[in-house]
Amino acid sequence: MNHLTWALATAAVFSGNARANTVPQFAERDASASAQSPPFYPSPWMNPKATDWESAYEQAKAFVSQMTLMEKVNLTTGVGWEGEQCVGNVGAVPRLGLKSLCMQDSPVGVRDADFVSVFTSGQTVAATFDRQLLYARGLAMGQEHRGKGVTVQLGPVAGPLGRAPEGGRNWEGFSPDPVLTGVSMAETIRGIQDAGVIACAKHLIGNEQEHFRQAPEAVGYGYNITESVSSNIDDKTMHELYLWPFADAVRAGVGSVMCSYNQVNNSYACQNSKLLNGYLKGELGFQGMVMSDWAAQHAGVSSALAGLDMAMPGDTSFNSGFAFWGPNLTLSVINGTLPEWRIDDMAMRIMAAFFKVGNKIGEQVTTNFASWTTDTYGPVHYAAGKGYQKINEHVDVRAGHGTLIREIAAKGTVLLKNTNKALPLNKPRFLAVIGDDAGSNPAGPNGCSDRGCNNGTLGMAWGSGSANFPYLVTPDAALQAKALSDGSVYQSILANNQLDATKALVSQDGVTAVVFVNADSGEGYISVDGNEGDRNNLTLWRNGDNLIKKVSSWCNNTIVVIHSTGAVIVDKWYSSPNVTAILWAGIPGQESGNSITDVLYGKVNPAARTPFTWGNSRESYGTDLLYKPNGDIPQVDFTEGSFIDYRHFDQANTSLAYEFGYGLSYTTFSYSNLHVTKKRAAVYQPTTGKTITAPTIAKTKPSTNLNDYIFPDAKFPYIWQYIYPYFNTTSSGKEASQDPYYGEPNSAYLPENATNGCAQPLHAAGDKVAPGGNSALYDVLYTVTAQVKNTGSVTGDEVPQLYVSLGGPGDPPKVLRGFDRLRDLAPGQTGTFEVNLTRRDLSNWDTASQNWVISDCPKTIYVGPSSRKLPLKATLA
Ligand code: BGC
Repeated sequence: MNHLTWALATAAVFSGNARANTVPQFAERDASASAQSPPFYPSPWMNPKATDWESAYEQAKAFVSQMTLMEKVNLTTGVGWEGEQCVGNVGAVPRLGLKSLCMQDSPVGVRDADFVSVFTSGQTVAATFDRQLLYARGLAMGQEHRGKGVTVQLGPVAGPLGRAPEGGRNWEGFSPDPVLTGVSMAETIRGIQDAGVIACAKHLIGNEQEHFRQAPEAVGYGYNITESVSSNIDDKTMHELYLWPFADAVRAGVGSVMCSYNQVNNSYACQNSKLLNGYLKGELGFQGMVMSDWAAQHAGVSSALAGLDMAMPGDTSFNSGFAFWGPNLTLSVINGTLPEWRIDDMAMRIMAAFFKVGNKIGEQVTTNFASWTTDTYGPVHYAAGKGYQKINEHVDVRAGHGTLIREIAAKGTVLLKNTNKALPLNKPRFLAVIGDDAGSNPAGPNGCSDRGCNNGTLGMAWGSGSANFPYLVTPDAALQAKALSDGSVYQSILANNQLDATKALVSQDGVTAVVFVNADSGEGYISVDGNEGDRNNLTLWRNGDNLIKKVSSWCNNTIVVIHSTGAVIVDKWYSSPNVTAILWAGIPGQESGNSITDVLYGKVNPAARTPFTWGNSRESYGTDLLYKPNGDIPQVDFTEGSFIDYRHFDQANTSLAYEFGYGLSYTTFSYSNLHVTKKRAAVYQPTTGKTITAPTIAKTKPSTNLNDYIFPDAKFPYIWQYIYPYFNTTSSGKEASQDPYYGEPNSAYLPENATNGCAQPLHAAGDKVAPGGNSALYDVLYTVTAQVKNTGSVTGDEVPQLYVSLGGPGDPPKVLRGFDRLRDLAPGQTGTFEVNLTRRDLSNWDTASQNWVISDCPKTIYVGPSSRKLPLKATLA
């Protein structure tokens, strides 16, 4: 049999270990080369008593105990790129009635499918500051994934967090503030998982830029690098900033986590034992499975020992036909390199996540779409062109979610400026709408694959985080319909470059001009207008700044609407008196035009808050991306620590255009009666004790007879490039592996303790049973209330915010710790804002004790409508 060769794959299995936790040596390197990731072994196994996982554990155990070694390998290793219908699939276990698990993007809807909805970006829903809407969006997205037969929805996103505004994928996440992102993660995850779909918190961690995230991609762009960029993050910053929202995700019971492409402190995220074993599974007590980003796995056994549970999409690189796992994982268990408890734990984690969200064997929804074609019939094994059958059922799963999407995009639209009562519009006599961003893409809403272009209105940014529109309501279409029903005159010029015609239109008497502009970004595998995922600058695209300057010089009632993936520099025009209103409408999804019309005409009274800072220059952010490699393994030192976004602007006391948390309403609010109540809470106890010993789940030992693992020719045909758990030869382990170094001394270096299955000490900042860290971190120490009164003349929502100054010399002046969206306050009505401040909210990460500690420094709290408007203040006793 000559189906496969495994030379490449096995070499990596047995040499990859060394790579997991050593610093690669190379010539050009600055001081940052010293960033190292300490080893953390063994990989923590599941805890049968983990809160909310007990029943899932029992069900998983009953299932996994019946599995053969090859079935377990099949469950952990993807079938290869385009091997089945989803962007990722693992092998089925037909003997036990388990169909292949389907992993599918995206964080805004079901990617690569028809008859699905396209929701707002994460960043846009974050701007609502509304937990109910965050949950509702998650639930609706989960239901659509479920209806299509998806097992794991690949979202939500907390990495990138948004270290720098240029980051190409910031819009997929929520906000550079870890608390807003953490709440958004938790609500979205609950929603998705309540629909019976496993959520995937991604990308762990430090994936803050697209440039150099993967060496082959960067080489394709002409950069000379050999390995992925290393995000060098210290332990304190990790805890206080980047890991924080992942802790919330774990606490919310997320079933899966995706490790990222980049290296963290010079160790690849998907084989970084400190990250996966130490922080995630050890300290945070994560019970679900870790899957690799697509082709982010770089080694075999070492990635398994470092805590990876599922290899996606399964091949070493797209369509290589080789695998780091698959047959090599089988062999590594038989020859004793990988302990049996580890493969059992991998299978347990996958199956526990499966059962936790309510799945039952025999009741899985069959995947009824194909990611690679909209044809009804086609090859189910797309890469190989094999298995011709019906692959697209075209099931409509939208269930009227358009109404919710319209509401979220409207309630996520931030009113940044409103003068001369420009808004809300009230039957304007003459409405002129200007700009490419108000119209449609001539190629249609899905005209560019994965939205990889910026033509027409920006309803969705680009990359794997997108989905195919069922329709896209343009601002032009919706505003025209509204204007006509009001009897207004309506004319639009859907281009940025028709300046003569634009001047003639908007300089007419009494015209209200609405200018639509945008700035786009996306994932690194697509470059748009020279932006290789990340934005090259923070200016508006297609000469948008010039368009605004021109229109506002001709028309004294110019309203600007911005669709963007983050902040843009507005300082050249935002203070002009002729620019009477400015709105940030984020990345709104399919209902774009309807949502903006609802806000412009006051059907929805805006209350959204900007989830990031609008600086006056690019430099004012204090952080930027690396655009040119600084070595063959690019290094990015996160030397700013947790001083990103508003924390930096506050510390530097820099002027800015719009601060984090800022947003206007058509009414006004007053804040009063701040009240702080100290709660009784026990003294914080670091967790002590040990885990159980690594459990033996399998009922029988796997055979060591290589003949038992040979490809079963008689049973089914071999599919080209498909990743199987079987061997193609059995004469010896060396031959099966095709590794020239197989069996030689040092060919299988194993990090110290990596195979130790004895009981292990629990992490002091972790918990005996509760996922998300020591449960005492979530004890409420203070309850804070304030009164918020609608002092204007129309009903509206208000978003009060609570900030804390932790008071230490290294602390940001203030950090967000609580917020709410008080809904529908009528004129004169008062609402109560209440925040429970937890121990975690008031603590710093102490690297010496490896725990959270409340410092002796005085703690002050501030309450108000934005990060720079905080009328109420109190000191905590
Ligand atoms: C992206 C992930 C995505 C995966 C599968 C990767 O390139 O980074 O976010 O889930 O592809 O499409």
